[in-house]
Amino acid sequence: MSERVEIRFPHKTVEVPVFVGTEGEKAIDVSNLRAESGYITLDPGFVNTGSCASDITFIDGEKGILRYRGIPIEVLAGKSTFLETAFLLIYGHLPTITELAEFTNRIRRHTMLHEDIKAFFSGFPRDAHPMAILSSVVCSLSTFYQNENRPENELMELNTVRLLAKLPTIAAYSYKKSIGQPFVYPDNSREYCENFLHMMFSVPSEEYHVDPDHIDALNLLLILHADHEQNCSTSTVRLVRSSMGNLFACIAAGICALWGPRHGGANQEVIEMLEHMRAEGGNVKKYIELAKDKNSKFRLMGFGHRVYKNFDPRAKIIKGACDKLLNKLKRHDPLLDLAKELEEAALQDAYFVDKKLYPNVDFYSGIIYKAMGIPVPAFTVMFALGRLPGWLAHAREYTHDPKNKIGRPRQIYTGEMQRDYIPIEKRG
Ligand code: CMC
Repeated sequence: MSERVEIRFPHKTVEVPVFVGTEGEKAIDVSNLRAESGYITLDPGFVNTGSCASDITFIDGEKGILRYRGIPIEVLAGKSTFLETAFLLIYGHLPTITELAEFTNRIRRHTMLHEDIKAFFSGFPRDAHPMAILSSVVCSLSTFYQNENRPENELMELNTVRLLAKLPTIAAYSYKKSIGQPFVYPDNSREYCENFLHMMFSVPSEEYHVDPDHIDALNLLLILHADHEQNCSTSTVRLVRSSMGNLFACIAAGICALWGPRHGGANQEVIEMLEHMRAEGGNVKKYIELAKDKNSKFRLMGFGHRVYKNFDPRAKIIKGACDKLLNKLKRHDPLLDLAKELEEAALQDAYFVDKKLYPNVDFYSGIIYKAMGIPVPAFTVMFALGRLPGWLAHAREYTHDPKNKIGRPRQIYTGEMQRDYIPIEKRG
């Protein structure tokens, strides 16, 4: 017999079912609560609220566990490629050799943008933030692929491939626009990450050799970012999809949600914070004290997480990769020393220990991006490239759920009660 719990109200007691996940997590199913009791639940920030059941990603924040479709992130980081991981997230299983080849080939055939899209880039100011360009151009893709007379499933498949194929091209074009260089067309003989780095850093007038260490580092970072269950941007994608929004609009909305500094925008802010600290003489203590000061709005960027209360497994892998890449490139980045010093100081400070604040995925990733030559404003774009398969997997899961409903939270109204309309000449 499945577990049930009783909720006691002043006027009655309601018995509600408990929903249990495959890893033993439990949720009180309140879907009939209002109908049965007249009450709703209130949970700002959704700290205790599950919005859905999902088969895609499992996180145990207390133990620092992250698994995509059951496979630990450490294993995928060591053995997989970004496109293989994308396939795993989207279709639910590791691809066979044939499936992966077909998937990769389909993506290869869609990397170019419609030539008219180039005109959009001319319209943006030179200093436009690349996340604004990314979301705008992704949303505008829906104008190039509208009224397509195909079955819904086929359309979902095709648009999934189009988005995976075109996002790196849009990202690279936004960088080229910002530095006034010509756009470099995708070269479909190149692997996914290599192709992106080639579009970013080559120019038509010269041969350009993409450093294999950069390709490996990018593959790793994209895998680590590929999904993270119901985070702010993924929940946004699911919410927009719930209104039956088209896939391009859903992903554009996800990109916008990711942009903010509490979410993906933190990777840009971390580097800016470290650079600022360094310019001021590297006074780590000062920043720790500032982060603890309730009168200051400053937070240690790249620290803390809603779910992880022990360590973020992605941060652990990225920190190791950071050391490895800089050693291989025989490069020394004083920002890495400063980041390590800051981490050490924070982890010994009672404020951070008591509140269980640890470095998150964004703390060290920027140092790798910097070593690869990615400009700081484009760091969050890199996060978006990585998160795309997760967004697509969730949009698809939502769509295929026969019980799906439009997402429509309730509220408790705290404004004025009914009052009179006073004509303007009589208002004091
Ligand atoms: N520096 C200083 N204090 C912090 C920090 C921080 N980075 N993070 C949380 N706290 C404090 C916060 O002030 C609060 O203290 P109190 O209980 O005294 O009011 C307590 O810790 C709990 O914080 P919260 O804001 O209630 O926690 P949350 O789960 O709502 O927020 C977070 C999580 C990630 C938004 C937050 O930790 C934060 O703003 N971190 C800095 C930004 C950042 O690195 N974001 C990237 C997140 S990971 C990647 C991603 O999801 O995109």
